[in-house]
Amino acid sequence: MADVAVVGAGLIGLSIANELAARGADVTVFDRDEPARAASWAGAGMLAPFSEATADSDLLALCRRSLEAYPAFVADVQERSGVDVRLRFDGTLHAALDEADLGRLGVAAASARANGGDAMLLDRAEVLEREPFLAKHVAGGLFVANEAQVDNRRLGRALVGAARARGVRFERVAQLALACDARRVRGVRTPQGFAAASTVVNAAGAWAGALDGVPEHARVAVRPVAGEMLAIALPPSAIHALVWFGHRYLVPRDDARLLVGATVVERGFDARVTAAGVHDLLDAALAVAPALASFAVVETWAGLRPATPDGRPYIGPTALEGYVVASGHYRNGILLAPETAHAIAELIVSGRVPASIAPFAPGRVGSMKSNPLREGAAAAAKPAE
Ligand code: GLY
Repeated sequence: MADVAVVGAGLIGLSIANELAARGADVTVFDRDEPARAASWAGAGMLAPFSEATADSDLLALCRRSLEAYPAFVADVQERSGVDVRLRFDGTLHAALDEADLGRLGVAAASARANGGDAMLLDRAEVLEREPFLAKHVAGGLFVANEAQVDNRRLGRALVGAARARGVRFERVAQLALACDARRVRGVRTPQGFAAASTVVNAAGAWAGALDGVPEHARVAVRPVAGEMLAIALPPSAIHALVWFGHRYLVPRDDARLLVGATVVERGFDARVTAAGVHDLLDAALAVAPALASFAVVETWAGLRPATPDGRPYIGPTALEGYVVASGHYRNGILLAPETAHAIAELIVSGRVPASIAPFAPGRVGSMKSNPLREGAAAAAKPAE
């Protein structure tokens, strides 16, 4: 059976390692940090293909497949690890604060329905009946019933537990480089020495484009896009489901924290939380839920999303034999973990590229498509001031 080195212990790398080990592979995961930190820890855990994915139909199809795979994926890692990852299928509410927002939600509802979203428009009374904590002056909303959330920090712990139980080894290394000859991958080099592997999977998230030792013809263009978030201490009964408003969102957690996310900032590998970021999040959150003003802000953090030039992830083999990439999932890494893991494990075990990932070949040249619900998000991505 294949011996595989997975570079990157985020949710994508962990899911791949767990799936490969379940199929009998000998797997080692390498990371500079503890497993499941970085973007996997920083994310909000929204499993929202219609609210998050682009209008790119191939990407949306992959996101939908992955959402369908989530219950079985979670059941397996929960059983192996004993960690409840709090998977909740309670839908997403998009709140409109004015007529212009409402008009955009009408277009988005039609688009979501055409793509399999269970979407319905709501008037003010229906929004407030679902979420009485929101501003009394909301103009209306859109509810997408077939979306979910997972506690990504718990999922990280669960995946580490499941992978370890299946025999996956974890190596924390200060540096790492791909080792290859002109024909194929040979393994990885770390300060501890050379580790041979017949396959190396680059699941290094925002750092995937910067992996040392990769020949030019097998490199991928992944760049970091920061997202700042904060948490407010709020009883779990106050807000029931995911709430989107414009480009921001509220995510209620069972542990009495309400997550408020997220900014979209292009400033390289800088994961600070800035005063401007906190201001932006609180300004937007208090507009949609003014009653939040008297609750405590209990945490702030930021993560780096792995973005690609055309908005599609890179999932599949490269021009260098044995070197596989699974990165560039941008805003959908947590959602796409099960399907990415399934496809990459299938590729490594069978040697064939599954049809579901053919559009995401690392060697492609592509162009960006946008989503009516997220229009303007790219424009909102701005350099740090
Ligand atoms: N998926 C949430 C975000 O990227 O902000």
